[in-house]
Amino acid sequence: MASYPELKGKSVLVTGAGRGIGLAIASRFITEGAQVLLTDISPGQADLVVTAAQRKETSASFHIMDVTSSSQTEDAISQAVALHGQLDIIVCNAGTGEVAPLIEATEASFDRQMSINAKGCFLSATIAARQMLKQGHGGRIIINASGAGKIAPGKATPLGLYAMSKHAVIGLTKQLGVELAADGILVNCICGGIVDTPMWDLIDREVTQRSNTPTGSFKAEAVASIPIGRIQRPEDMANLAVYLASDDASYIAGQTLNCSGGMLPY
Ligand SMILES: NC(=O)c1ccc[n+]([C@@H]2O[C@H](COP(=O)([O-])OP(=O)(O)OC[C@H]3O[C@@H](n4cnc5c(N)ncnc54)[C@H](O)[C@@H]3O)[C@@H](O)[C@H]2O)c1
Repeated sequence: MASYPELKGKSVLVTGAGRGIGLAIASRFITEGAQVLLTDISPGQADLVVTAAQRKETSASFHIMDVTSSSQTEDAISQAVALHGQLDIIVCNAGTGEVAPLIEATEASFDRQMSINAKGCFLSATIAARQMLKQGHGGRIIINASGAGKIAPGKATPLGLYAMSKHAVIGLTKQLGVELAADGILVNCICGGIVDTPMWDLIDREVTQRSNTPTGSFKAEAVASIPIGRIQRPEDMANLAVYLASDDASYIAGQTLNCSGGMLPY
């Protein structure tokens, strides 16, 4: 595992950090010696990272933040600044996925997914960017999209609204990346494939219920299609997130990078 000493002491905020990929990203930033504010609608397992931070003699804490609320986002960013002096890096990770063919998808489901996935990233990224602009010495904004932000998941994987919202997030990265590059704020996006988190267990449960097939069978089939031959771990995403926050990524802006075990063609 690479290490990035330049991340020591950096102030990082991660959204949706109570479990899954967000938790792994927060944990990896602590390993690098960064100071992390974990945010989520509920704490989940955030205390694991808070305890790990104490052992590493750095700082981690948890703050309630619903990414759909601009006031809660403003408040969390102010909290990161109050605790750690500034905000250097934000990881816009919170997201949700709901299973339904588009033809059956409801307006409420559209609103929920667009609100959490697309509006949530828009608010977190732009409010963080305004703070970074005020600080005047650049920053990093890392947005978590998905392979579903690049390709249609297909009929057998009915995540059409999720895919729409994740395409929006990639559009956000492209435009914001170009708008902020001259200020040294580098905005990039990461796309995972089939990551072993509660989100995929939920997708499996809902798809197998719909198709009347055994629980676990959809996930097993999906994993069998991964060229690298194993399910993706949340830590695989964390590897890419810390790389994009590091000095090694100082010439990367407005890009969307895959970490999908070879699943994504572009
Ligand atoms: N699991 C995968 O296979 C996969 C693949 C590609 C991309 N992603 C993306 O990675 C991100 C994390 O996914 P995960 O698999 O860890 O999911 P997860 O469901 O395990 O965790 C998501 C976290 O986001 C939080 N969250 C939900 N709504 C929120 C809101 N309104 N405000 C703040 N936090 C909220 C949840 O409480 C939860 O802790 C998501 O954006 C997801 O779309 C996941």
